[in-house]
Amino acid sequence: MDSLNLRNRIESIDDLPTLPVVVTQILQATKSLSTNANDVGKLISDDQSLTVKVLKLVNSPFYGFPQKIKTITHAIVILGFAKVKNIVLAASVFGMTKGPKNSTVDICSLWEHALTTGIVCRQLAKLRNSKLDIEEAFVAGLLHDLGKVILICNLEDICEQVSAIVREKDCLFYEAEKELFDFGHDKIGVWLAEKWNLNPDMIEGIKCHHQPQKARGDKLMAYILHAGDIIARALDVGNGGDNKIPLMDPKVAEELDLTTENLDKLMISVLAELDKAKDFFDLIHDQN
Ligand SMILES: [Fe+2]
Ligand SMILES: [Fe+2]
Repeated sequence: MDSLNLRNRIESIDDLPTLPVVVTQILQATKSLSTNANDVGKLISDDQSLTVKVLKLVNSPFYGFPQKIKTITHAIVILGFAKVKNIVLAASVFGMTKGPKNSTVDICSLWEHALTTGIVCRQLAKLRNSKLDIEEAFVAGLLHDLGKVILICNLEDICEQVSAIVREKDCLFYEAEKELFDFGHDKIGVWLAEKWNLNPDMIEGIKCHHQPQKARGDKLMAYILHAGDIIARALDVGNGGDNKIPLMDPKVAEELDLTTENLDKLMISVLAELDKAKDFFDLIHDQN
């Protein structure tokens, strides 16, 4: 199957994962300069279950605020639109699509891998003190394998074919995709990310997380996602459909200054963050 045929097949799927209307509205509202905390607070608060999830995450040790944040408007005032937008996105994605019962790739394990990648990416952005917003890095990590969600939930036959090659050759999921088609979950993820109007940096990062040198413009997001994915695999939390740990692109290791010493420091900080992220992991299991 070529990519045009696959794209046509994806376009014709009726129940392609969609972001909840409220999330789309928030993404729009946070782009507008005239939006105020009350407007966005009201949008989220109108959705009871989202409000509960967002407040739980905002008050979790992961964000570490000393005082309890009781309302969404309060959260926006303290954290800012961008952070709250990303927390809403994180609170929404885990449960938006249910994996089929006997899928060859378990959707909970995939989200655990994605969440771990998000946490590693957040720490990479933080430790490198880069201009990249750490919460953007977190959400990009969370969504880097978005294409696999579609394969698992909407293209089960293709997912099964890819998994059969992974089992037979003990290779990367990505390598098996390339063997079968002229595309991978990176490209599929981009199609969905574009539909969702995610920011261009994030889309470029998703597109190039397995081939970071191909990123156009500023490559930092692609570099962070590439390293984040590999480090998350090394931590062995969750599973994205294969058991391999690919080699890191040497240019990425150099640019992110991932010396053995820095990698050790990163691992220690990531393990501490994973401990604080229990509420996020609970959300995956509550919703799947
Ligand atoms: Fe991937
Ligand atoms: Fe991954």
